[in-house]
Amino acid sequence: MIKVLMVCLGNICRSPLAEGILSSKLPKDKFFVDSAGTSSFHSGNNPDPRVIEISEKYNLDISNQKSRVFNLYDFELFDLIFVMDKVNYFDVIKLAKNKNHQKKVKLIMDYPGSNLIEVPDPYYGGNKGFENIFTLINNACNYHSKQLINSL
Ligand code: 4NP
Repeated sequence: MIKVLMVCLGNICRSPLAEGILSSKLPKDKFFVDSAGTSSFHSGNNPDPRVIEISEKYNLDISNQKSRVFNLYDFELFDLIFVMDKVNYFDVIKLAKNKNHQKKVKLIMDYPGSNLIEVPDPYYGGNKGFENIFTLINNACNYHSKQLINSL
């Protein structure tokens, strides 16, 4: 089983969406996908209604997810940790205990052909921001899911 963790700040917008999208593109018997936040602001909460709504539009149900905080054990449990932006990257990397942990952490938008480095934080924006992050994360997951399946 290959285990992939998606990480953002609140674990109520970008990373739950990334978890849902990547998971939908991978065989369930070979991959486990989860998500977490670098903050505890929304611990225990379901995803933001705006991200549930955009997911439903694309036939994805992420409504049962619950926000949780990234913790040190995640470095052991997961093979790959995708972060949404550079702040997430530094917040996660500073907790890493060794090179092996550090190597697992990657920016989700860092793939060939991508012209962005970060998935912008949509929390304080309008609904347009959610359509935008869906497209960005979906494109990134098209690439990463192919790579992951090829790595089997
Ligand atoms: P996320 O978005 O990191 O994509 O889940 C945010 C959610 C909540 C907050 C910031 C970003 N907040 O400040 O409460």
